[in-house]
Amino acid sequence: MADLSLLLLLLFPSIFLLHSLYRRLRFRLPPGPRPWPVVGNLCQVKPVQFRCFAEWAGSYGPIMSVWFGSTLNVVVSNSELAKEVLKEKDQQLAGRHRSRSTAKFSRDGQDLIWADYGPHYVKVRKFCTVELFSPKRLEALRPVREDEVTAMVESIYRDCVYPVNSGKSLVLKKYIYAVAFNNITRLSFGKRFVNSKGITDKQGHELNEIFEKEFDFDSSFMIVAEHIPWLRWMFPIDEKKFVELEARRDRFTREIMEEHTLARRKSGGAPKQHFFDALVTLKDQYDLSEDTIIGLLWDMLVAGIDTIAISVEWAMAELIKNPRVQRKAREELDRVIGTQRIMNEPDLSNLPYLQSIVKESLRLHPPTPLMLPHQPNENVKIGGYDIPAGSVVHVNVWTIGRDPQVWENTTEFRPERYVEEDVDMKGHDFRLLPFGAGRRVCPGSQLGVNLVTSMIGHLLHHFEWAPPKGVSGKEIDMEETPGLVTYMRTPLEAVATPRLPEFLYKRTAADL
Ligand code: HEM
Repeated sequence: MADLSLLLLLLFPSIFLLHSLYRRLRFRLPPGPRPWPVVGNLCQVKPVQFRCFAEWAGSYGPIMSVWFGSTLNVVVSNSELAKEVLKEKDQQLAGRHRSRSTAKFSRDGQDLIWADYGPHYVKVRKFCTVELFSPKRLEALRPVREDEVTAMVESIYRDCVYPVNSGKSLVLKKYIYAVAFNNITRLSFGKRFVNSKGITDKQGHELNEIFEKEFDFDSSFMIVAEHIPWLRWMFPIDEKKFVELEARRDRFTREIMEEHTLARRKSGGAPKQHFFDALVTLKDQYDLSEDTIIGLLWDMLVAGIDTIAISVEWAMAELIKNPRVQRKAREELDRVIGTQRIMNEPDLSNLPYLQSIVKESLRLHPPTPLMLPHQPNENVKIGGYDIPAGSVVHVNVWTIGRDPQVWENTTEFRPERYVEEDVDMKGHDFRLLPFGAGRRVCPGSQLGVNLVTSMIGHLLHHFEWAPPKGVSGKEIDMEETPGLVTYMRTPLEAVATPRLPEFLYKRTAADL
C-alpha cells in the first residue's frame, strides 16, 4: 500500500511535467521568467500581480508567458497587443477562465461574468444590453443614484461638523462604499437594506455575509491547489460549505422574489425600474433559467460595488495630493452650478474638467488592473506567438495606462491631457481600457461613469479636502491591495471642510 502511494506521488508530477514540456516544445510560446518544475512561476509572482507583471514585462517584453503550476497565463502589456486580443482576435479570445470557486458560484457559467462565449452568453449579454443597461432604464434609476450621493454628503457633513470631530480626518471608504453598496443593491433587488440612520436590516446582514463568504474560498492553499491539479486531493473544495452557501443565496433571492410578487399583486402589476423586476417579467421572453436570474443578480453586486468604491477612493487620493487640480475642478463647479444649488447628473455634460479627472484617475488606477481573465476557445496567435486553447489571457491595463510610448509624463496626474486630446475610455481607444473592450467590455460602464463622476463632483462641490493634520499629500500611501480588484492598501483619510450653505447638505430621498 505504501509503495502504491509513493508510486502515485511520483507519477502525478511526472505526468504533469511531461505534459508541460510537450506544450512548451509543440508551441512557440511567448518568453517569460523561467518556470520551476511543478509550481511554474507561482513562487516568484509577488502578491500585487499587475505590478510584478509590469516589472517582468520590462525584461521579457509586452507579451509574456507566466506559469501558475501547469496553467499557462499570457500577459499582454501594450496597446497594440491589447487591440489584437480585444478587437482583431476578439471572438477567439472571448471565453472566460473559471477557477474552482467561480465555477461553483456561477453554476458552471450560467451567469454572465463567468459564462463561456457561446449561445448562452450571447443571449444573456443581449438581455443585459437591451433591457438592464438601456439608456432609458439608467435614466429611470437616476433618482436612486442622486439619493445615495446626497445621503453620502449628508452623512459626511454630519460627521465633520460634530464638535468633537472638528478638524479630524475621516476614513473616506466608509462613506464611498455605502453609496456603491446601496446603489447596486437597490438597482439589483429594488430594496435598500440600510435605514436612514445607517442601520442594516436582517436581510442586509444576510446579503453581506453571503457576499463575504463567497470570497473566503480563495485562500492561498486553495489557489496553489487550483493550479497544481494533482495537489487538489490535499485541498479539496469544501463541498458542504459551498452547498450551504448556495442554499443561503437561493433562499435569500427567493424570499425577495416572493416579496416582489406580493407587492406587484398589490400594485396591480405596475412595472418597476430595478433589475429584479425586469428579470422576473422578461424571463420567459428571453428564456432565462432561475440559475441565470440568480447568477445575474449576484454578478451585479460582484462587478458593481467594489469597482465604483475603488474608483472614487483613488480619485480622491489624487485630488488631495494635487490641490491645483482640486481647486480647478471646484472653480468649474462654482462657475457651472454656483453655490446655491446642488449638482445633478444632467450637469455632468457641462463639466468637462470633472470628466477628465475621472479618466485620468482610471488611467492611473484601473480598479481591475488585469481586467477579467479571457480564455481562447481554440489555438490562436498573438504578437506572432502561439497561445494554446485553454490558456488564460490577461491584459495589463495598468501598465498600458502608464506606458511611456503612448503617454507623456506617465505618472503625473494631469487631467488637462484629455482637453488637449480627446481619448475614449469605453473600449474604442486601446491606450485607456479601464472597462476592457470588445465583446466582453463592461456592460455597466455608463452606469459606473455616471455614478463615479457624480460622487466626485458632489464631494468637491460640497467640501474642501486636505490630508490629515501633520501629513503631507506626498506621504499618502499609493500602493494597492493584492487581488482581482485593487483598493488602496492604506484606506484614505482626509479632512473635509464644508463650503456651501447648510440647506444644501440634506439627502434627497427617492423611492423606486
Ligand atoms: C468604474 C466602474 C467599473 C469598472 C472600472 C469596470 C470594469 C470592468 C472590466 C475591466 C470588466 C472586464 C472586461 C473584460 O473581461 O474584457 C468588466 C466586466 C463586467 N462588468 Fe464592469 N466595471 C465597472 C462597473 C460595473 C458596474 C457598475 C456593473 C453593474 C452593475 C458592472 C458589471 C459588469 C459585468 C456584468 C461584467 C462582465 C461582462 C462579461 O463578461 O460579458 N461593472 N467590468
